[in-house]
Amino acid sequence: MTAALENPFRTAPGSLPPVFAGRDGELSAARYATSLTASGGAAQPIVFTGLRGMGKTALLRQCVAEAEARRGVVLYSEASRENPLSSSLRRSLEHAKTRFRSIPRKIQTALEAAIKSLPEATYELPSDLGGIKLAPPSLAPRRESFVEALETLNAEVRRDHRFLLIAIDELQEGHVKDLLVLVEFVHLTAGTSEPALFLGAGLPDTPRHLHAVRTYTERWRYFRIGLLTPPETALAVESPARAQGVTFEDAAVARIVEESAGYPFFVQEYASAAWLQHRGKRVTLADVQAIAPGVRRILEDGFYDERFRRLTPRECRYALAMAELGAGPHTVAEIAQSLGATSETVSSIRNQLLKKDVVYVPSPGLVEFRMPLTERYVEQHRAELARRAALAAPGSASPE
Ligand SMILES: Nc1ncnc2c1ncn2[C@@H]1O[C@H](COP(=O)(O)OP(=O)(O)OP(=O)(O)O)[C@@H](O)[C@H]1O
Ligand SMILES: [Mg+2]
Repeated sequence: MTAALENPFRTAPGSLPPVFAGRDGELSAARYATSLTASGGAAQPIVFTGLRGMGKTALLRQCVAEAEARRGVVLYSEASRENPLSSSLRRSLEHAKTRFRSIPRKIQTALEAAIKSLPEATYELPSDLGGIKLAPPSLAPRRESFVEALETLNAEVRRDHRFLLIAIDELQEGHVKDLLVLVEFVHLTAGTSEPALFLGAGLPDTPRHLHAVRTYTERWRYFRIGLLTPPETALAVESPARAQGVTFEDAAVARIVEESAGYPFFVQEYASAAWLQHRGKRVTLADVQAIAPGVRRILEDGFYDERFRRLTPRECRYALAMAELGAGPHTVAEIAQSLGATSETVSSIRNQLLKKDVVYVPSPGLVEFRMPLTERYVEQHRAELARRAALAAPGSASPE
């Protein structure tokens, strides 16, 4: 086998990393919830939140795989703004049908009934009759029959000593009405001896997005997942290689820790490139040094360059002020103060940055960079951004 095929590192979005570094708390909470559900006890729904590339999907998939190994029947869906949840649920029900071919006929029938109970896509002629619009089939209109179908499925699944797990990724994209149908179903089962489990993942604004369903969701368990610590990063790099009989020099690990800053997506990228560079049984500092500039360029290009190219001078100033305040969310007032302006004056700049997806609002009054490690990118490109920011009218903080 070639070094490329033996490469243990995983750079594809959502791919299971060879070692889940730094996620013991999240995994054990999900394992406990799974065991409890399997034995007939209702578990608190769990949601993993975090910025892009922190490993939410990977974590959710790992939990799903472990639940399946414990006889869970999983409906795994990805919410999206463009495609309503019903189409993703349809696929997950179809998938469960083929995946569990050997399960009793009655479960197969219940899965088919659940598929049939989902709303079909509808066509609407707009009033000007200029074309045909495909209306997204929300779950809400057929709510009753869909929930009934899920109840039957849940009962059949339990009869076969299994349990139902509903797992939804990208929760922040889901239409609240659709999510409500599923959430109500899970809460309904919590009062019975046949509870279903709910696991989810989404960006940090997920709890805010779920506000409309809050009577249910405020008692859910949210885990905010973030950067790995240096020892966790070292584990993520060294342990998969060691399993293949390859060691990383300490200095090589230290350089990956520094370059990746513990951001899981970057950790996999640097470790993978270093692996492909190495020869023999040792990954050296020279290997990492050889790949680091190229990897950094690709990552900067993919993550930040495009977004930052589109900023106006005043937006550059805002980003520079935010980066100076360091990582994490900052209050609107703090940012305004460092720009020497009032919150009201700078709010329109923030709105532009929100539109350009450079920042987001984790909770009212706060602003945070959308992509992890943006403050580091801004620091590294400070000179150029400051030059562009200087093109703004002197002393002015409002957008042109
Ligand atoms: N604990 C971890 N240790 C090391 N690598 C990890 C860990 N968790 C995830 N990864 C790796 O990080 C990368 C990103 O993971 P993933 O796609 O799950 O992130 P995400 O949070 O779902 O991102 P997005 O918000 O863009 O969907 C993948 O290559 C994955 O294998
Ligand atoms: Mg994801």
